[in-house]
Amino acid sequence: MHSGYQVLLIFRHMKRSNFLITLLTGALVLSSCVSNKPAERADEIDKKVNALLAQMTIEEKVGQMVQYNGFYDATGPAPSEGNAQEKYDNLKKGGVGSFLNVRGAKQVRALQKIAVEETRLGIPLIFGLDVIHGHKTLSPIPLAESASWDMQAIKKSARVAAIEASAIGINWTFAPMVDIYRDARWGRVMEGAGEDPYLGAKIGVARIKGFQGDDLSAHNTIAACAKHFAGYGFVEAGKEYNTVDFGTSTLYNIVLPPFKAAVDADVKTVMNAFNIVNGVPSTGNKFLQRDILKGKWGFKGYVISDWASGAEMVNHGFAADLKEASLHAAEAGCDMDMESYTYVNHLVDLVEEGKVNVSIVDEAVGRILRVKYELGLFDDPYKYCDEAREKELLYHDDHQAAALDMAHKSVVLLKNEGGILPLAKDQKKIAVIGALADDKTSMLGSWRIGSDDGTAVSVLEGLNKHTANYTYAKGADVVAGDVNFVFHLNENTTDKSGFKEAIQLAKKSEVVVMVLGEHGFHSGEARSRTKIDLPGVQQQLLEEVYKVNQNIVLVLTNGRPLALPWAADNIPAIVETWQLGTQSGNAIADVLFGAYNPSGKLPMSFPRSVGQCPIYYNKFSTGRPVNAEKNVFWSHYTDEENDPLYAFGYGLSYTTFEYADLKIDDANPKAIKVSVKVTNTGGVSGEEVTQLYIRDKAASVVRPIKELKGFEKYTLAANESKEVTFTLTDAELGFYDNQGNFIVEPGMFDVMVGTSSVKGLSGSFELK
Ligand code: NOJ
Repeated sequence: MHSGYQVLLIFRHMKRSNFLITLLTGALVLSSCVSNKPAERADEIDKKVNALLAQMTIEEKVGQMVQYNGFYDATGPAPSEGNAQEKYDNLKKGGVGSFLNVRGAKQVRALQKIAVEETRLGIPLIFGLDVIHGHKTLSPIPLAESASWDMQAIKKSARVAAIEASAIGINWTFAPMVDIYRDARWGRVMEGAGEDPYLGAKIGVARIKGFQGDDLSAHNTIAACAKHFAGYGFVEAGKEYNTVDFGTSTLYNIVLPPFKAAVDADVKTVMNAFNIVNGVPSTGNKFLQRDILKGKWGFKGYVISDWASGAEMVNHGFAADLKEASLHAAEAGCDMDMESYTYVNHLVDLVEEGKVNVSIVDEAVGRILRVKYELGLFDDPYKYCDEAREKELLYHDDHQAAALDMAHKSVVLLKNEGGILPLAKDQKKIAVIGALADDKTSMLGSWRIGSDDGTAVSVLEGLNKHTANYTYAKGADVVAGDVNFVFHLNENTTDKSGFKEAIQLAKKSEVVVMVLGEHGFHSGEARSRTKIDLPGVQQQLLEEVYKVNQNIVLVLTNGRPLALPWAADNIPAIVETWQLGTQSGNAIADVLFGAYNPSGKLPMSFPRSVGQCPIYYNKFSTGRPVNAEKNVFWSHYTDEENDPLYAFGYGLSYTTFEYADLKIDDANPKAIKVSVKVTNTGGVSGEEVTQLYIRDKAASVVRPIKELKGFEKYTLAANESKEVTFTLTDAELGFYDNQGNFIVEPGMFDVMVGTSSVKGLSGSFELK
């Protein structure tokens, strides 16, 4: 049976000249469309894909493999800027499969209309956008969300993002970023789930499920994209777009597992990466895309290049020119090109010259069409273009509630000496210092392409809901002048003219809340830093205020781990709030006044000094891990500790949790049980994340000194206890050898269960 939309196509082919009839039919199709029909069976879709492929010319096929950046006001009179006319003409010829960065139901509809009503086959476009942590309503940045270790909340956050994005015409997000990384200098750490592949895989899957929902053909679910395949998180020295170089053990055990989990969770698309892996750019990397992703893992969706990464293979020195780049990308399994102009300008010629087999093109187009069918775009290409829905859903109250919940859960309490926090409800004379306290934009974070400046609840606004007893002084700005997403940050400020007022205020206050950190655009793509301290004069401001009042609560807001050893030594309370999105100020004030008891745990180690980067908990032992001979010849720095300032998995609460009774039952090697009793001993209800780490003591390929292999988050009332049990199976105890085989080796394992990667109860067992 033909769907309404297919009837339209057939009908239009018969009467191509009759525009009126086409329009009429289009209207009938729209009114009879079913937005929420269950996903069609895969084999039915395959049949439709093959039937369509059989009708397509080589130009139309290659067209499906082309993604353009949105080119002009689609609802306006004419294409305008740059090569817009060329794009427009190509779209009309059926030479475009997808757009990115076209936003708004009206804009999307205008382009979709050209694709479905003016091209020969009327194949609908798929519209992609970087919906990274929300569209209009912003959740915390992904690194912050990851600190929640709360998969339900993270899934919900992605769901909300999908609901808002799908209401403005978007049906595909370039998220989640599942790159693992270890270097806080890299600006994109804000966009992922941190340094651990186990946690990263779980979070990636939660996000994919949130975006894609239970039924991809529904009008409010969108295709997800696991990116950047692979190894982008390992750019040398944390420098953006830099060389990547790691060994096979790291590739198989650290880099690939979150992507494998994404594929197992049915992620519909994967984006390749800017970087090289073993000297071969990811976009032209056959081993990664064909052998592993599509071969070994059986990925059924399609691969998109990163922005111009196809063309950049010429700069890498892998392709002599764009035509050769096009050849390499197609052969290696890159199905769609994002703004490289490699496929659009060269692929048809390459096929006609016999250099690229048409079966490669057919395979790529088949994958792209399949996802379009699964999204239901052939049934109703306009189902994401409902302006009433757009109006109703953006910034919806329910979305604000979810964003606040996520923001609460993302906060990590790093230090709380002398119980300075939470502040008493009747706390008098509070000084609030720092430009970021009065900022309604910065805390929205980076990668917020659809958002509106000034839509975050500021810290001051959040505080207003709890107290009238504060006075504010800016002290110092973070950056001088305007900041935006595309251009360089202007200089960090050197202006100390506000210090005096701030110091005087601190002097006469009982407690000082200092809101310091990075601007929202200090992190994100192309925002690598060599210093990961407080930018500008903020560190000096902190130290000057400390001289007159030591009762300081330092509220950090930043997109990456910062190295703040002086603050860690001297400031009694430190709260890591990252960039918490739209509800930032409300969440921060709730935590400061104890309306929410913080429960976050760091997904990434905080170094003592930038010189420790890259730093990560799941490191190898080395041959000289300790100072056994009491001399200088062991693995260490002469001027700094080896340990991080704050470790992976670390985070405090306003209550305390006591761990006791570690039990290990290794009777069944296929299901080893590890349990522990946790008691809330701190007098108030709180949430804990119990974490389980293993160490495989001796293996054919060395294993890290600790690896996260289980965690559970739960609430305990004051004095309440709970037995937390984990089951270790082959999946947790095995690893990948250097050929990429997953193996399980018998032998001794250490196990630690506790409140962070550095604190817990330890035992061991033998895997027989
Ligand atoms: C480049 C980024 O690396 C990628 O993550 C993003 O999705 C694309 N640009 C599109 O904006």
